[in-house]
Amino acid sequence: MDKVHWSPSYETRSTTRRRVISALGLVFLLGLYLQYQSTTGLLFTSRIPAHASTTVARCLALDQKPGPPTNFYKRSESDRYAPGTPPVLIKNARIWTGGENGTEVLRGEILLEKGLIKEVGRVSSRSLARLKEELVVYDARDRWVTPGIVDLHSHLGDASSPELEGAVDDNSLKGTVQPWLRALDGLNTHDDSYALSIAGGVTTSLVLPGSANAIGGQGFTIKLRRTKERSPTSMLLEPPYQIDGSPQTGPPRWRQMKHACGENPSAVYSVTRMDTVWAFREAYNKAKQVKQTQDAYCSKALAGAWEGLGDFPEDLQWEALVDVLRGKVKVQTHCYEAVDLDDIVRLSNEFQFPIAAFHHASEAYLVPDLIKKAYDHPPAVAIFATNARYKREAYRSSEFAARILAENGLKVVMKSDHPVLNSRYLLYEAQQAFYYGLPENLALASVTSTPAGVMGMDHRIGYLKGGWDADVVMWDSHPLALGATPAQVFIDGIAQLEQPYTFSKPDNFQKVPKVPNFDKQAADAVKFDGLPPLEPKKADSDYVLFTNVRSVFTSDAEGVRESFSANEVSENGVVLVDKGRVVCSGSRTTCAEFALVDEVNVQMVDLKNGTVIPGLVSFGSPLGLEHIDQEDSTNDGWVFDPLAGAMPKILGSDGGITRAVDGLQFASRDALLAYRAGVTKAITAPSHGGFFSGLSVSFSLGAMHKLETGAIVQDAAAVHVSVRHFGGVPSVSTQIAALRHLLLDPPQGDVGRWFKKAAEGTVPLVVEAHNADIIATLIMLKDEIEEARGTTMKLTITGAEEAHLLAAEIAKAKVGVVLNPSRPFPAVWESRRILPGPPLSEQSAISLLLSHNVTVGIGIQEKWSARNLFFDIAWAALEAGGRISEVQALSLSSNLEKLLGGEVEVTGPTELVAIEGGSVFDMTSKVVAVISPRLQLVHLF
Ligand SMILES: *[C@@H]1O[C@H](CO)[C@@H](O)[C@H](O)[C@H]1NC(C)=O
Ligand SMILES: *[C@@H]1O[C@H](CO)[C@@H](O)[C@H](O)[C@H]1NC(C)=O
Ligand SMILES: *[C@@H]1O[C@H](CO)[C@@H](O)[C@H](O)[C@H]1NC(C)=O
Repeated sequence: MDKVHWSPSYETRSTTRRRVISALGLVFLLGLYLQYQSTTGLLFTSRIPAHASTTVARCLALDQKPGPPTNFYKRSESDRYAPGTPPVLIKNARIWTGGENGTEVLRGEILLEKGLIKEVGRVSSRSLARLKEELVVYDARDRWVTPGIVDLHSHLGDASSPELEGAVDDNSLKGTVQPWLRALDGLNTHDDSYALSIAGGVTTSLVLPGSANAIGGQGFTIKLRRTKERSPTSMLLEPPYQIDGSPQTGPPRWRQMKHACGENPSAVYSVTRMDTVWAFREAYNKAKQVKQTQDAYCSKALAGAWEGLGDFPEDLQWEALVDVLRGKVKVQTHCYEAVDLDDIVRLSNEFQFPIAAFHHASEAYLVPDLIKKAYDHPPAVAIFATNARYKREAYRSSEFAARILAENGLKVVMKSDHPVLNSRYLLYEAQQAFYYGLPENLALASVTSTPAGVMGMDHRIGYLKGGWDADVVMWDSHPLALGATPAQVFIDGIAQLEQPYTFSKPDNFQKVPKVPNFDKQAADAVKFDGLPPLEPKKADSDYVLFTNVRSVFTSDAEGVRESFSANEVSENGVVLVDKGRVVCSGSRTTCAEFALVDEVNVQMVDLKNGTVIPGLVSFGSPLGLEHIDQEDSTNDGWVFDPLAGAMPKILGSDGGITRAVDGLQFASRDALLAYRAGVTKAITAPSHGGFFSGLSVSFSLGAMHKLETGAIVQDAAAVHVSVRHFGGVPSVSTQIAALRHLLLDPPQGDVGRWFKKAAEGTVPLVVEAHNADIIATLIMLKDEIEEARGTTMKLTITGAEEAHLLAAEIAKAKVGVVLNPSRPFPAVWESRRILPGPPLSEQSAISLLLSHNVTVGIGIQEKWSARNLFFDIAWAALEAGGRISEVQALSLSSNLEKLLGGEVEVTGPTELVAIEGGSVFDMTSKVVAVISPRLQLVHLF
């Protein structure tokens, strides 16, 4: 452990002291000399300015390295201690301290007092006796306790949630280079995310300016708790002295600077990478000149040559960048591709400044040796786990990047980029990295001690050690077990959750999950330069026998059911498949008669105590219509919106209705990755930015093109519209008026024909609506239409973050709900009244709606997350704390066909997914095959 890297070495300190003494001595001698001159009437040859002593001190401090004062651990009280906070004893804890490279685990107690961790492991009886009366005791009941989660890359407070035009303060559009800006100046203290992120265990975030600029300005480390003063400044953790004006009591404190290269700064200013990198070089050249002027000035000042020296040369706009060159700033650099990383590595060497971390860095795992060439030390790499392919820069991202970087000796950090990812689930990023192969110790460190070190704060956060800040999380399970939820969160020793709701989890959740082996896939990611082939391979034989099967779930028009369970027959079973159809599943004896099958031609697959379940269904993203979201030329594009303006005449008098099936593109990387993760189908509606969407399509993610047998499941599944607060025209009431008109009085033509079907209930009407008032209006409209026409409509609401407020009414109206996202977030005003789920509320939105017998499905917003549907389902089950069964959890996906499927009933055998090892509901298994009667084959991965 390089625990002391921040601490100036003894030698440096003593050298500094000698320099101070000699400079002061010099001033003294000069003073004597001048006195002598004036008394003897000689002419002045040199004049000592009044500011001489401050200037000398300043010159001596110029290159002083940041870090805590040497007596830091002598503190008996945190500078952030809130008077009145009672001391806390957490007992019976399994304590992951962060020590010993993240491998140290202690069993015992933790004492928190005066905002600090006082003792860890065994608390002395002397302390207990001293604090007896005041002590608040928490019994962790043998559960895990870790340091608070540290987010190295957040825009919390600057990019507000809910997003409001009056609080978009994360990007300045006034120039490519703006080192003088401070994220602190836009920090909104009223953001809904503070409480939500704390509920995920996040205690500290580095709030950075956005990436619209090459040099975007200064970032600030905050603790997320409310302060007594309620001000942004009072949230800062160890702010640089120049920020809060507090007296400097030790070495300078770390500053943070945001840099960004590649697409974002280039796009915002319509320039190229060449322009952006020149902007960097020009800025650093300017800063270098200022630095050189200062250094020249100081060498004269320290030599006492004040003659004509004037004032210390400074420049308010460039001082922060000069500090970068002096090694006093943690440079946090948003860079994705090899080309960008190379640009910045060269920049760091040309101007000789260290880079703290490359953020996003989707290709860093492909060029580890390049990263190691950065000036002074290799930057850490801060990444997402599976959020990828949203733009060209992210196209070669890999879920194996974290482990590959670690194998190459680079520091790995998982970050949220909040609100890009909701930082409440930052630990889930580490869990995913762990699932795909990042070692356990490094996975936990990637959201605690490693980011703390990268931001220069690991002398006080990121570890559970005596003397560190009292930022502590008690979890309801092992922190790397999926769905780990805080039972309590302490920031500066203050308990943050007023009335936490948690459930007791199964025993195996108290241990680190046994994750599958992905060595080959990880090697392929590198071998194929980030684009390993993902096309599924057909089984060699028509006959495939899955053995060692623990349970089989199937699905039909009635829903999901468990058709075989080893528990009942006390031995694992088999599933025999012929051309994609299951011919027998159950115990070996049940299937014995099929042993006649020519064994030579049977391909055997050992599921190793695994499971067979229905293929999952994805809905809500443009999966199938897009390859790379931000590359228009890879996408189907957007429909015309009849409420936004005149429709092109060529579409017919009513503007026509768009069918997503006509724009389908097969075999995108997101589709293939989802398929490999057990998602066999997607239902996708035409992409739209307004009210009108069109007809959705249901299609196979395992097909390579539209003409393949079984590629299209249903070419026109449902009619889709959105009723939203778009702002301005059209109003919500105008959108409702249009919907009423289309349903009550359908016009001639295609549009009318489909809305007539929707009004009559022969196809579902799927309305994206988030806000409870809009949902209520839609329920009334449904009544109105049904009464006027004597029909029964099939209405499904998607989005539906506020649906829980109307659970009983939605159930009564027999309206279906697709919650999207499945774990809600108040991204905008119309979806702000979420039911957050444990630990903030006893029920989750899903469990509450299910308890009212509402038919519920779950959706995704962005197509990269289609692959995570298994995890989403598991999350839903875990957050319901046993109130929903495995069958109900799996139904959250299969219900989508009912809710969005229109005319087609589920006929014939459904697609199944074979999962090797472990359970579907934790992170211990992996998908190895799809059994597809529709494609008439078995795909093996
Ligand atoms: C830290 O742990 C990782 C992963 O377990 C290991 O590869 C690395 O060598 C360890 N580092 C030290 C300094 O022990
Ligand atoms: C198979 O899985 C079940 C359920 O998780 C478990 O109880 C059992 O011990 C496992 N059997 C083997 C041989 O691993
Ligand atoms: C939901 O359905 C179950 C089973 O049919 C029934 O017992 C229960 O009362 C229903 N709950 C509500 C809130 O209607």
